[in-house]
Amino acid sequence: MDKFYYIYTYGCQMNVHETEKLAGILEKRDYKRAESAETADIIVFNTCCIRESAEQKILGNIGAVKPLKKKNKNLIVAVCGCMSQQKEMAANLKKKFPFIDIVFGANNVEFFGEYLDEFLKQRKFVNQVIDDKSYIENIDKINVVRDNSLYAYVNIMYGCNNFCTYCIVPYVRGREKSRKPQEIYGEVKNLLAMGYKVVTLLGQNVNSYGLDDSTDGVDFAQLLDTIANFDGDFELRFMTSHPKDLSDKLIEVMAKNDKISKSLHLPVQAGSDKVLKAMNRSYNITHYKNLIKKLRQAIPNITLSTDIIVGFPGETEQDYQATVDLVKEIKFHNAFVFMYSKRKGTIAEKMEDQVPLNVKRERIHNLLQIQHEISTKLFENMVGSTQRVLLEQENNLYYIGKVQCGKVAKISKANTKKLDLGKFYDCTIIDYKNGNLIGRVD
Ligand code: 5AD
Ligand code: SF4
Repeated sequence: MDKFYYIYTYGCQMNVHETEKLAGILEKRDYKRAESAETADIIVFNTCCIRESAEQKILGNIGAVKPLKKKNKNLIVAVCGCMSQQKEMAANLKKKFPFIDIVFGANNVEFFGEYLDEFLKQRKFVNQVIDDKSYIENIDKINVVRDNSLYAYVNIMYGCNNFCTYCIVPYVRGREKSRKPQEIYGEVKNLLAMGYKVVTLLGQNVNSYGLDDSTDGVDFAQLLDTIANFDGDFELRFMTSHPKDLSDKLIEVMAKNDKISKSLHLPVQAGSDKVLKAMNRSYNITHYKNLIKKLRQAIPNITLSTDIIVGFPGETEQDYQATVDLVKEIKFHNAFVFMYSKRKGTIAEKMEDQVPLNVKRERIHNLLQIQHEISTKLFENMVGSTQRVLLEQENNLYYIGKVQCGKVAKISKANTKKLDLGKFYDCTIIDYKNGNLIGRVD
């Protein structure tokens, strides 16, 4: 009889990609993808702990599995990823949800198959959260079942050394470790041969690729330059960049290579130097603005996005206004705004002057509204320009795809010749309506 799996994925692109690895491990063991958790023989929760809201949601979803387990005694429930990597979390989870069968952390995804075999043999709780980060040797050798046939993620490094004072990532993902360039080149070439069109290089802080001395001297700019010179019609993206070490060399490489996306995500986090210092971001606003100036000079059509935290401990009304002013001045195409969330074990957890929830709510609401107006104007201004769009689907009226910054573009079939899905087209933007770009391909 067929066996089915269902994976819940929370959090960042790194987790989305790790889910593709978990799926690969399960499919190697003859499991097939289930349409829903209700019809699965094994349910995996690939978790995130970046903010408390993520954890609350996950705990709610795990709780909701209890009745399924009651109905089907053989149902296997596994929890993995960043949330379970936290100290004592495995034991806490088991206490709260005794029906969980397997817990493992973010460091040992590639051993999931072994843990599953062990559980099937013994039918006893498997708890395998390990601190050892030596997995990098193995992780890239496992089968990956990718979710999408056009867009592919490729890990170039794991972990983070930055210890921003609000962030739990360095505690759960460990220190930076870069993959060997040859392995990355091999994987990207394979993906291109398989027909993938957009390759996104992933790391918590891609600009420090190679700083751990494990890449035979290849730095991020070189890595990007080499891949951008591979044959084929594709687009190369990367995330996430840290403003403190985005080099001039990288800007040069981005500017000269057509295949490198002209859309950049560059988290600023706050607009006040005092707050940036308290966050341990290692740059000030002058440096950030200077970077943006250099990027815009070198790449005039660049689109920028950012992450911002409001309500960091000690953030005064004046500090918050500095963030608003920065957002108004830079004009990002998109900004992901978060309310500061206290994370256990981080430095900011112990800081005084925590900002009350109602103030954080007010600030996020206000900033999102300001950003919405800016985004709308910028996308309206795209009307008349030519944008490269990758077509993904069609309906009776439109071909539908995305432009480089991720915005959906619809091309009316009424005034366009027949187009192929899975291909790039240069598209003239003729309107911006209901949050979508409307285009024409001549
Ligand atoms: N609270 C709120 N937002 C956070 N981020 C990271 N840690 C926290 C936290 N404790 C945000 C940062 C980061 C993004 C991925 O999540 O803006 O860039
Ligand atoms: Fe967290 Fe800062 Fe590392 Fe990003 S750079 S993962 S925000 S510690």
